[in-house]
Amino acid sequence: MYESIISVRKAMQKKLEPHRYEHTLGVAATAQALAMRYGYDLEKAELAGLLHDCAKRFDAPTMLKKCEKRGIAVSESEQNDPSLLHAKLGAWYAKHKYGVDDAEILSAIACHTTGKPNMSLLDKIIYVADYIEPRRDRAPNLTEYRKLAFIDLDAACLAIMESILSYLKSEGKTIDTMTVAACVDMRRAVKENKDIRRAETSAVPENKEESTGESGKRNRKTRSRSFGRKKG
Ligand SMILES: [Fe+2]
Ligand SMILES: [Fe+2]
Repeated sequence: MYESIISVRKAMQKKLEPHRYEHTLGVAATAQALAMRYGYDLEKAELAGLLHDCAKRFDAPTMLKKCEKRGIAVSESEQNDPSLLHAKLGAWYAKHKYGVDDAEILSAIACHTTGKPNMSLLDKIIYVADYIEPRRDRAPNLTEYRKLAFIDLDAACLAIMESILSYLKSEGKTIDTMTVAACVDMRRAVKENKDIRRAETSAVPENKEESTGESGKRNRKTRSRSFGRKKG
């Protein structure tokens, strides 16, 4: 994958405007840092970051035309605000022009502007990295969100989604239905995470009962980490 990362980086430098290329490098580096923090594949995170805005160089009418020509579905919100389409169109380019066939990378590119319900770890990494990368300087609450991203990724996603929604409402701008659905789902996930942590805090260490599935695995990992800290 290393070779394709180098060639994609060169292609982005050639195709994107300098400020967009700088942003792209910032997202790729931040995605790698988040991947280190949350135990995700570093190269996949970097490649998704490098390609996430690959279709942003087109203007709105061109994006609409390109989507129609390629059979990419355009929602009502996207008709009203075609700039949203650079995410879906970017996933198409990643696959057909840059040879990416990894479903997780394509999904992360496709949902990086709006989010979506049931976001994967890479979806969340790219969504957050796009907002907090070091070159961003105008988005609100950046310092807080940058810190939160490395403490609780779901909470950072939710904070960013809520901030974007409240900005769109206050400006009277069109709100994409996917952004709302993503926010509702992330609110649910953050609440579930809190419930799990609360249950862990109140659990007696001798209790041998373990839940099954991903949350059970997470519980066991967290417990062993916290016991380790006490010993240390
Ligand atoms: Fe974007
Ligand atoms: Fe971006």
